[in-house]
Amino acid sequence: MASPPPSTAPARLVVLVSGSGTNLQALLDAIGDDPEGFGAQIVAVGADRSGIAGLERAERAGLPTFVCRVKDHATREEWDAALAAETAGYHPDLVVSAGFMKIVGKEFLARFGGRFINTHPALLPSFPGAHGVRDALAYGVKVTGCTVHFVDDGVDTGPIIAQGVVEVTEEDTAEGEAALHERIKEIERKLLVEAVRRLARDGYRIEGRKVHLGHVGE
Ligand code: GAR
Repeated sequence: MASPPPSTAPARLVVLVSGSGTNLQALLDAIGDDPEGFGAQIVAVGADRSGIAGLERAERAGLPTFVCRVKDHATREEWDAALAAETAGYHPDLVVSAGFMKIVGKEFLARFGGRFINTHPALLPSFPGAHGVRDALAYGVKVTGCTVHFVDDGVDTGPIIAQGVVEVTEEDTAEGEAALHERIKEIERKLLVEAVRRLARDGYRIEGRKVHLGHVGE
């Protein structure tokens, strides 16, 4: 599977959030007022809940936002179709899950598979799911980190785009999950920005589990 050849117009990004939105902020800061130079622009921010800092960041940046809550739909499938329709309305080239704490369904993947990326706070395939930091700490690993990957129909199982490593020290106790997560997020924000920049500007190819950045068509 290959992305469309890079064009001169900045790629259109829809970013999905559920919480504080510091990864979204890192993208906003990196793009700044030069989307052409960065190669991408955020055209909308979506969330699965209201009242979160991530949405406030988007509003402060003057971006359109939308909220699509599971509990407002009769079934999970209907929620998934609504989320897909809202997102599609902004005609994104790439969709970025930046702390979006929901597993999307068939309809969303049918529309955005191969151009939907997620950032996860562990070194996949270890510690997938909602508690990557806590699970890695409990396992006693000496290094952990973050993974930017394409989303497929599993839980954090799609092809890996980039990974960053963070050391776990003696000071990292089970109670210190938040502190370790903060150290991971410092690396994660830079990793996500660089991954989006390269995907958008240089194009990419997905061959099985391998993601090749740049040189589309070779
Ligand atoms: C990030 O660390 C991201 O990897 C994680 O939520 C955090 C969001 O931070 N996502 C998951 O755990 C998904 N399984 P942010 O809202 O400050 O960007």
